[in-house]
This record gives sequence, structure tokens and C-alpha cells, in this order.
Amino acid sequence: MAGDKHLLWDLPTRLCHWLLVACVALAWWSGETENYDLHQWLGYSVIVLVVSRISWGFIGSPHSRFADFLVGPGRLLAYLQGERARSAGHNPLGGWSVIALLLLLLLQAISGLFNSDDVFFKGPLFYAADVTVRDVMGQVHEVAFYLLLALVGLHIFAVLYHQFWRREPLLQAMVRGSASGREGRSAPVSGWRALLVTLVWALALWGLLQLAPSPPPMMW
Ligand code: HEM
Ligand code: HEM
Repeated sequence: MAGDKHLLWDLPTRLCHWLLVACVALAWWSGETENYDLHQWLGYSVIVLVVSRISWGFIGSPHSRFADFLVGPGRLLAYLQGERARSAGHNPLGGWSVIALLLLLLLQAISGLFNSDDVFFKGPLFYAADVTVRDVMGQVHEVAFYLLLALVGLHIFAVLYHQFWRREPLLQAMVRGSASGREGRSAPVSGWRALLVTLVWALALWGLLQLAPSPPPMMW
């Protein structure tokens, strides 16, 4: 960017966000309509996106790093009592909600790997677990989804509140990378790094799923 104005959200961060939105919406729909072939692929995509985003929190562009937006209880409390956020990126409360969203997405998708619809479809790690673990994962998959719906609802409400009530251009920044008054303090790192990280995680997940035990032989 010209002068010393930089992107607040680099392309990988924005792509990851909007792909997550699409995958979760489609996973909801495909789960409800019992299209589990599509459902599992959306779930794998969520896992790869989330672990890549977590990696980006350590090696990504300045404002995408956790160190930029995760603060201790003292500063969180001060923010809640009216102190201004120090970063142009996520505010102290928003920062911790990002962590909650990412962890819940991971829990949702990982629990799905052990899940079954009790008819035809079995997640790839179904046979890697005993009955108790499968049952627990089934419950987790159900409960985590309600929590996810609640947290995403809260997230959208918070974004709209800041956007329209406090007149901060959050949506413009999440679409275009930055907006007036919401610019980055230094240049983003190369997007190729994100592509590499994503490919490595996709390969790691594929490798893990290759190791999954196959169904036991039928007993007559
Ligand atoms: C399944 C639904 C959604 C999930 C899981 C989700 C998740 C997230 C996550 C993890 C972040 C942090 C981004 C990062 O640092 O990588 C974020 C930020 C953001 N999301 Fe969403 N989101 C969802 C839906 C939406 C929708 C529908 C909108 C638009 C109304 C939206 C607008 C935003 C904006 C503007 C930010 C940046 C907030 C800021 O500037 O601090 N999100 N979201
Ligand atoms: C973030 C990703 C995911 C989301 C948001 C999600 C969401 C859902 C939803 C909404 C349902 C419907 C629950 C119902 O029947 O009322 C469902 C069911 C199911 N999901 Fe997922 N899921 C995800 C990932 C996965 C993955 C990766 C797998 C396996 C590879 C999986 C396997 C299943 C199975 C087997 C069911 C049927 C459960 C049953 O009939 O009790 N899910 N999921």
C-alpha cells in the first residue's frame, strides 16, 4: 500500500474467515439434510482452516498474530470499563471471542470424525474408538453445535453493533483488508506462507485419516 498505510487483515485471514462462514453454513445444511458425504468434506475443510488460522496466529501478519489481540485480565477489565482498545485489530473482548470460536469449531469438527448416523455413515475415526468414546463424541457433536450457533449469533450481533451503532468499519476491513481508521501498522507477510501452512495441514490430516482403522470383518 502507498505511504505507511498497510492492510489490517491480510488476504489469508480474510479468505479463511469467509471460507469458514461458507463451510459452517453448508455443514449445518448438509447435517440437517443427512448429506454426510458432503458433510464430512466440509468438516475436514473446517479442521484445516482452523489449524491453519491458529498457525497464522504465530507466524502470520502483524494484526493476525495472537500477540496482537490477546490481552490479560487487567487490560480486558480496563477495556470493559471504557478504556480504548490499543490495537487497530480485534479489541480485547473480540480477541478472546476469536479463540472461543476457533476452539469450538475444532471441537465440533473433531467430534464429527468419531460420529455415526447409526445407519449408513460412519466418521473416519469411528472404528478407532470404543463405544463410550463414540457416545461421548456424538453428544459433543450435538451440544457443541448449539454452543456454536449461540457464539456465532453473539459474534454477528457484536460486529453489527460496532459497525452501525459505534460506526466502526469492521465489515469493510474484513472484506477489503482495511478501511479508513482501520489500517495495519506494518506490512503483511507473504501469502505464500499461508498457502504452504494450509497445504501442510491438509496433508497431515489426510495422512492421519489414512491411518484410521477399517471396519472389523463381519461376524456370522
Ligand atoms: C459461521 C459463522 C462465522 C464464524 C465461524 C466466524 C468466525 C470469525 C472469526 C474466527 C473471526 C476472527 C478473524 C481472524 O482473526 O482470523 C471473525 C472476525 C470477523 N467476523 Fe466472523 N464469523 C462468522 C460469521 C460472520 C458474519 C456472518 C459476519 C458478517 C456479518 C462476520 C463478520 C466478521 C468481522 C467484520 C470480523 C472482524 C472483526 C474485527 O474487526 O475485530 N462474521 N469471525
Ligand atoms: C464444523 C464442522 C461441522 C459442523 C458445523 C457439523 C454440524 C452438524 C449438524 C448440524 C448435524 C445435524 C445434527 C442433527 O442430526 O440434528 C451433524 C450431524 C452429523 N455430523 Fe457433523 N458437523 C461438522 C463436522 C462433521 C465431521 C467432520 C463429520 C465426520 C466426518 C461429521 C459427522 C456427522 C454425523 C455422522 C452426523 C449425524 C449424527 C446423528 O445422526 O446423530 N460432522 N453435524
